Amino acid sequence: MAKITYIEPSGTRHEVEADNGSTVMETAIKHMVPGIEAECGGALACATCHVYVDDAWTDVVGQPSAMEEDMLDFAYEVQPNSRLSCQIKISDAVDGLVVKVPERQA
Ligand code: FES
Repeated sequence: MAKITYIEPSGTRHEVEADNGSTVMETAIKHMVPGIEAECGGALACATCHVYVDDAWTDVVGQPSAMEEDMLDFAYEVQPNSRLSCQIKISDAVDGLVVKVPERQA
């Protein structure tokens, strides 16, 4: 289990418990966090699960793969800490992770 915090553009925070082996995207959908659309269901075929990883967590979460980078080209207002949340696996290592939801998805 890991606690994940999603922060909406308005500043509203959603702190939820996530199951190991699931993803940051699946956890957001399960807990109905607004702003994560995940149109492709986690197949790395859209960019609608885009999040910004909190600066304190970028090293832990790591960099996107080449394929994820390609999909991020379609995301709205990409920043250096942008990731597709379906590609971030939940494990004890990300307990406490904070991500921000963008103003809108692509
Ligand atoms: Fe489509 Fe993440 S849900 S790329």
